[in-house]
Amino acid sequence: MSISKQVFGKTDHRESVDLYTLTNHQGMTAKITNYGGTIVSLETPDRDGRLGDVVLGFDNLGDYIEKSPYFGCLVGRFANRIANGKFTLGSVDYTLAQNDGPNSLHGGLQGFDKRIWLAESFEAPNGPGLILRYQSLNAEEGYPGNLNIQVTYMLTNDNELRVAYAASTDQTTVVNLTNHSYFNLAVAGDVLNHELTIHASNYTPVDESLIPTGKLQAVKNTPFDFTCATTIGSRIHAEDEQLKIGGGFDHNYVLDRADDEMVHAAEVYEPVSGRLLSVYTTQPGVQFYSGNFLDGSITGKKNRVYHRRSGFCLETQHYPDSPNQSDFPSTVLEPGEKYSQQTIFAFTTR
Ligand code: GLA
Repeated sequence: MSISKQVFGKTDHRESVDLYTLTNHQGMTAKITNYGGTIVSLETPDRDGRLGDVVLGFDNLGDYIEKSPYFGCLVGRFANRIANGKFTLGSVDYTLAQNDGPNSLHGGLQGFDKRIWLAESFEAPNGPGLILRYQSLNAEEGYPGNLNIQVTYMLTNDNELRVAYAASTDQTTVVNLTNHSYFNLAVAGDVLNHELTIHASNYTPVDESLIPTGKLQAVKNTPFDFTCATTIGSRIHAEDEQLKIGGGFDHNYVLDRADDEMVHAAEVYEPVSGRLLSVYTTQPGVQFYSGNFLDGSITGKKNRVYHRRSGFCLETQHYPDSPNQSDFPSTVLEPGEKYSQQTIFAFTTR
């Protein structure tokens, strides 16, 4: 195993940003930058052992700063949308930037994806890792409380990328952290032939601005049913109001779970390469996003043009707009409490 570090570039404010390459015993590599805690590349073997990069991204820092649609980054302080950029805690109303129509998306104008994190690499017996730390000050992007965040990425020797999130605050606040990797297990082309399973019997339907209506909808007998392996493309064009609103899948799935323990959330199989991605998480939900906003206007790594559906995201998270939805699991973090969530992206072949 090995860890190497190189300069990735400089921001507009002349801050230097690094790129860490973690390599495990099997030769799988993860390149991660401390700009946004972003996974820049993930090389995993296909069924013949040939390595291929299974995430979308850019070759250079400048492109991430200028035009990234959240490729590979850490998202916070609140992943996904908060309706009208407003929420109330106790008797205090908070207002966030409206950066997605009327709503606040992915932490606001300068979310955690656009921050430089303090990085420290380490070698553990079962693989290399990277600890990232960031302090989000009180009132940053409108959120209350100084929030200390630590995210640990670990690439295990059995080809798992483990992501552990921890946070604490000095004032009551809301927290919802995730990673926003866009995967393509075939490395190129679209993801419509990827076979997806999501262990969720329900999802949260949304209104026109992609805010949950508050209802849970059973996936049974709808195009949203991925309880058995189904290709992403097979029903994406079905006549369905929710698919129309999302321009495809852009919905939070309510994971079937009995407690807060780690569960098997989803599985994606790509039949040509044989790659199989299994996602495990302690989170209550996962946003399945089918790359609907990619439109061919972005050119990424190795001059690849990212067309619609060039990648899919499985963003493990609490449900969108939870601060305004009292029936959803709470995203409130109090002083003295410890926010803790884990997600594992496990790569095998079949
Ligand atoms: C999430 C959202 C999408 C979109 C992407 C980023 O998946 O739910 O609507 O904003 O992030 O483009």
